[in-house]
Amino acid sequence: MKLDLAIIGGTGLYAFPGLENIRREAVATPFGAPSGDIVLGALAGRPVAFLARHGQTHTLAPHRVNYRANIWALHHLGARRIVGVNAVGGISEKMGPRVLAVPEQIIDYTHGRYDSFCDVEGAKVEHVDFTEPYSPALRAELIAAGRRAGIVVVDGGCYGATQGPRLETRAEIARMRRDGCDLVGMTGMPEAVLAREIGVEYACLALVANWAAGCGGEASISLPEIYANLEAATAQVPPIVGALLAGN
Ligand code: HPA
Repeated sequence: MKLDLAIIGGTGLYAFPGLENIRREAVATPFGAPSGDIVLGALAGRPVAFLARHGQTHTLAPHRVNYRANIWALHHLGARRIVGVNAVGGISEKMGPRVLAVPEQIIDYTHGRYDSFCDVEGAKVEHVDFTEPYSPALRAELIAAGRRAGIVVVDGGCYGATQGPRLETRAEIARMRRDGCDLVGMTGMPEAVLAREIGVEYACLALVANWAAGCGGEASISLPEIYANLEAATAQVPPIVGALLAGN
């Protein structure tokens, strides 16, 4: 089967608006079950797949997502390009709430996650190049699609992947800022590296839900505000993906 694109939805994106002729596929993988059924359908007349990373009803915490099964299942169904939609906190000045960004670098602070398809008895060890962790071509297409859709998308930035599910301390974010992180999220890794290992083009569309701890002047982070910002940012995702599919 040929898929033009797969989309992995993060917090706030559990079904993809506008997806037509839907059918659901439960894929069994050598790594266990994906986060849920893969939803196959047409968007802008093109065949696409959608998967809700945290499950349909947000029951999977970031460290419990079976990233290997998700990426394996999408690849198995024919996906050769994946856009990961990720809720994030903003660290640097240009990454305020409701901003959409297509980061270009990653620092991984997660631990204890299965982050390689080689982590299996007898599997041949591959040392993939990860200098550019995201597909430059897919990143460029996302940014061009944003432009065509008339939606401002920040080009670049470094995504710091944290373990979660708790938010970070002020000191942790201060350290991440010193490290060069512009965004902080809990699900960007190992998704990106698994896509690289399996040979799928992967890019992240990051939706800024809040100022990361200590960045916005407030003493604490308000969860209702996170959800309101995410809802506003998520509404911009379908037109960008639609423009991406229409544009090539
Ligand atoms: N930190 C980590 N992940 C997040 C945040 C945050 O502040 N906001 C949304 N996802």
